[in-house]
Amino acid sequence: MPKQAPTLVPLALAGGQGKTTIALMTGRILASYGIPVLFVDADPQASLTAFLGVDPEDRPTLLEVLTRSPDKLPLFKAIHAVPESENIFLIPSTDELENANHSLAASPSSINVLRNRIQQVGEQVKKEEKITSNFGIIIIDPPPERSHLALTSLGSGDCWVICAEANIKGVQSLKRTKGLIETCQSMVPAGELIGTIPFRAKWTGLNPTKVTRTNIEVMEVLVGKDLMLPHVLESDIYKRAIDEQTLPGTLGYEHLEFPLRSLIERMRPSLGKYAKSIPVLNTEEN
Ligand SMILES: Nc1ncnc2c1ncn2[C@@H]1O[C@H](COP(=O)(O)OP(=O)(O)O)[C@@H](O)[C@H]1O
Ligand SMILES: [Mg+2]
Repeated sequence: MPKQAPTLVPLALAGGQGKTTIALMTGRILASYGIPVLFVDADPQASLTAFLGVDPEDRPTLLEVLTRSPDKLPLFKAIHAVPESENIFLIPSTDELENANHSLAASPSSINVLRNRIQQVGEQVKKEEKITSNFGIIIIDPPPERSHLALTSLGSGDCWVICAEANIKGVQSLKRTKGLIETCQSMVPAGELIGTIPFRAKWTGLNPTKVTRTNIEVMEVLVGKDLMLPHVLESDIYKRAIDEQTLPGTLGYEHLEFPLRSLIERMRPSLGKYAKSIPVLNTEEN
């Protein structure tokens, strides 16, 4: 049996915490190593779909994946190739995805719907259509609020990473997100929290600002030192990289990728045969 691709899900129960940015950049880095990446845009705001430059037109999206049965809609029909990006594929979203919340609400275990669908569990599914064995990793971008879509995104995760802005709002979101993970853990035995990334950390010269330092310290107390990953610096370069559909490194700012490479390093044990495609992380880099 081919090994299943692991799923990575950035989580935060608030907007603006870096979920989409971290999903996008981590996926782009993995794709640049030659690893086939499947993104799943689970946010009706469809930022990830827009950032990847995909227009779903009238082809199936995540809405159809979640609301139609696997025998009526095989998963591969909703997988779109991403233009100009080698190794990157996407199950896109549109604002109509909001409607999936109704059908998920009616399902007895909505938390497992997306996981089961991605794995194409079900008797009708032929082995060759088992999508997870065709990709090295699947990255799901959830919506920010506590909705059925957010829950089923969490439920689809093998590796969770909490994203949290380095300010009071970020700490609040981190507390709520960690609480939700704890509540759901028994229903999602495969899920593991692998880290927390402080987002938009502000630095002046060689030092963090007081707000950044204090809030990162609080985060460390909340999740424990082992789960703290390096911060994403406040920088317009990320926004430029998003707009230009590239990576900070391609723009000459490779050090800005350090937190994402550190996250990837934590995923290495889950990546099976693709683990050897990942260069060794130089911890002096930062
Ligand atoms: N390093 C950065 N510094 C400053 N702003 C950033 C950085 N990276 C991304 N942004 C911006 O932060 C905003 C929120 O990020 P996003 O990833 O969309 O959060 P979420 O998906 O959690 O809502 C976006 O407008 C994005 O362009
Ligand atoms: Mg987002």
